[in-house]
Amino acid sequence: MKVAVFSSKPYDQAHLNAINNGQHELTFFEPHLDEQTAALSQGFDAVCCFVNDTLSAPVIDTLAANNVKLIAMRCAGFNNVDLTQSEQHGITVTRVPEYSPYAVAEHAVALSLCLNRNLHRAHNRVRENDYSLHGLLGFDMHGKTVGVIGTGKIGLAFIRIMLGFGCKVICHDPFPNPEVEQTDARYVPLEQIWAESDILSLHCPLLPSTRHIINSNSLHQMKQGVMLINTSRGALIDTRAVIDALKTGKVGYLGLDVYEEEADLFFEDNSNKILYDDTFARLQTFNNVMITGHQAFFTEEALSAIADVTIKNISGFEANDLETICVVKAN
Ligand code: NAI
Repeated sequence: MKVAVFSSKPYDQAHLNAINNGQHELTFFEPHLDEQTAALSQGFDAVCCFVNDTLSAPVIDTLAANNVKLIAMRCAGFNNVDLTQSEQHGITVTRVPEYSPYAVAEHAVALSLCLNRNLHRAHNRVRENDYSLHGLLGFDMHGKTVGVIGTGKIGLAFIRIMLGFGCKVICHDPFPNPEVEQTDARYVPLEQIWAESDILSLHCPLLPSTRHIINSNSLHQMKQGVMLINTSRGALIDTRAVIDALKTGKVGYLGLDVYEEEADLFFEDNSNKILYDDTFARLQTFNNVMITGHQAFFTEEALSAIADVTIKNISGFEANDLETICVVKAN
C-alpha cells in the first residue's frame, strides 16, 4: 500500500523502514497531519499518524475525498481521531494498543530516583568541580509508601519495581487488576492514597473522571513533601494548583513526562524560540521539579514494537484480514 507517514522523525523512519522491508511504499512527512496538510494525502491509500496529529471531521473529509482507506495510528491513544466521521466514510482506523509498559514504568522510576537523590543537581555540581553535598540529601525508597493510581499494564509494571525496592504499595483503580491482586500491593480508597503516599505515581488514562484528579483539594489531603510523578497525561494534574503546592512545600518533588499544554511544546526543538507559556516557565524555576518531554515510551524495544504492530496493521488491512489487526471502532 502507499502510506503517507505524518509527524515523522528520523527515529520513526528508521524503525518503520526496518520492519517494513519494502512491503509497503512509505513516504515520510515531517509536519503534523491537520487541515493545512491533509491535501498531502492525495495518491495514498493510507495515512500513518501519531499523538499530536489532528484527525478531525474536516481532515477526515479530505482524506476520504482523496480515497484514503486506512488511518494507521502508531500509538495507543486515539482521542485525536473523529471515529464517527471515519466510520461514516468507511475509513478503517487501527492503533498499537500496547508496546512496552516497562518503558513508561521504568521512566517513572527514573524520575523518582533522580528527584530523590538530586541527580540533576549533583551532575551539574560535579561538572563545576563542586563536590559539596549540602542540599542533596535524599531518603531511602525502602519502606516508603508508594501510591499508584491506575493499575493497568504500566501501573502493574511500576508496582512490581517499587515492591522490589521494598516499598509498601497501595493502589486505586475502579477495575482492579487480578495480576496486581496477586502481588503485595493493596487496593485502597482514593482518600487513603492521598493521606498515606510518600510517593504518588499516575498511571490512569485521561478521562472526564480523571481530569485534574490532582487538584487543590486532593493536594490538601496529601502528606507534606509528597513526591508526585506523572508519566500518563498532562491534564491529570491541575498545574496551577501544583505550583501553589510546590511553593508551600506540600509537594516536595515533582516529576513530569507530560504537561497539560504540551502539544505546542513537546517533540520539537524550540531552543531558538521564545517560551510564551508562563505556567510552564514557572514550573522550570523549581529545583525539585524534573520535566522530560513525553519520552517515557522512547526505548528501542518500544519503537520496534510500535513499528512492528503498525506494519502488521497495514498488511492485515491490505489482506482484508481485519480480525487479526487492532481496529478501533466508534462506540
Ligand atoms: P491500561 O489501559 O492498561 O491501564 C489504565 C488503567 O487505568 C486501567 O486499569 C483502568 O481501569 C484505570 N483507570 C481508569 N479510570 C481510572 C480512575 N478514575 N482511577 C484510577 N484508575 C483508572 O493503560 P496503560 O497501558 O497502563 O497506560 C496508562 C497510561 O499511560 C495511558 O493512559 C497513557 O496516558 C499513558 N502513557 C504514557 C506514555 C508516555 O510516553 N508518557 C506512553 C504510553 C502510555
